[in-house]
Amino acid sequence: MIKKNKEDLAALCTLELGKPYTESLVSVQYAVDFLDWFEGAIERTFGDTIPAARGNTRIFTIKQPQGVVAAITPWNSPLAMITRKAGAAIAAGNSVVCKPAPETPLCALALAKLFERAGGPSGVFNVVTCGAESTIAVGEELCHNDLVKHLSFTGSTSVGKHLNIACAKSIKRISMELGGNAPFIVFADANLDEAAQGLATSKFRSSGQTCVCANRILVHASIFDDFSEILKKTIDRTFVYGSVWDRSVTFGPLYSLKGMSKAILHLEDALSKGGRLVTDGPDATDMELGPNFLKPVIVKTGASWKSMKFMEEETFGPVAFLIGFDTEQEAIEIANQSSLGLAAYFYTQDISRLWKTAEALNVGMVGARVGLVSATEMPFGGIMESGIGREGGIEALSEFLETKSITLGI
Ligand code: SIN
Repeated sequence: MIKKNKEDLAALCTLELGKPYTESLVSVQYAVDFLDWFEGAIERTFGDTIPAARGNTRIFTIKQPQGVVAAITPWNSPLAMITRKAGAAIAAGNSVVCKPAPETPLCALALAKLFERAGGPSGVFNVVTCGAESTIAVGEELCHNDLVKHLSFTGSTSVGKHLNIACAKSIKRISMELGGNAPFIVFADANLDEAAQGLATSKFRSSGQTCVCANRILVHASIFDDFSEILKKTIDRTFVYGSVWDRSVTFGPLYSLKGMSKAILHLEDALSKGGRLVTDGPDATDMELGPNFLKPVIVKTGASWKSMKFMEEETFGPVAFLIGFDTEQEAIEIANQSSLGLAAYFYTQDISRLWKTAEALNVGMVGARVGLVSATEMPFGGIMESGIGREGGIEALSEFLETKSITLGI
């Protein structure tokens, strides 16, 4: 049903979020992919027969649904973040109450309507919308209500901490995909063209508004100037600006004035502490493209990078901050200097460095010579303050299932 209505859904996504229509079409497909994958995977999910130590018993496990799953979803991907949670939860036999972000209720309601039209059983996929003024009250109800057995949340780390505490009172299962501040390391031996293309994808996808976007970009000192020039050329070649309805346009505005202000704040902070622009900064050509429009910006941070705001929190906008480093150990240390551990990326040609770096990075997801890790079949999620549990892949189904052990006397 979603496939049949993909153009309408993409148009709704563009209207609600301001994403370029072409990008919205890709996000509809991403949403569908989750449903297809979980539908296939649940048929291959089953319990075990375990050899028992006591000879007069046999032990089996079966997988059972948990009951009602509450899904609190973000505005930045208003279709796929719902199907990623609800697809897995429903495939595992649960019912879902979804509270979409107050900013993007329409995509969620459209999914509920299509679920109904596809013949989905009544009460299995439910949407509760609310405005910004009641979002805390609705969230609290989902945390405290005894009917809810699992809360799955995607959003900021600060909200995740509140929800985590609230859910602890009734020992609910939780899965949380929270904030990131992804490092992206370009080692001296990297293929610079490939690294620049990977960074363009990682940093500027959705205009920098995903939690896995690169934010702390570490470039070896010996290639620092060459790489910044290559990155600038890659951006000029890759992105097309214009009306979000024009199918050739690949880069859109930021979702809100709040998001725009944060990106500008991080940029001005870096420039006031000695950062230098590689690209043009925000100017009249951005304004001509519409409100909240910021074309990709590259900044060489200079000596004071440690005190810059982007080091503390994700920018969630299209500003790439480049930091120079001298040794492999230094790069890993800087990358791991964060309480957040969602995604990290790096480029090298050296296979030994590739393995060592992938193992050393304190994150849930590593892009080793790729700028895009997100995929339906991949366990998606972070460690430390970036979250609990995994979405996507077979692990997502386990999150929404209970294992029951049955000991049989013979
Ligand atoms: C996000 O949650 O912002 C990332 C979406 C994705 O890449 O799957």
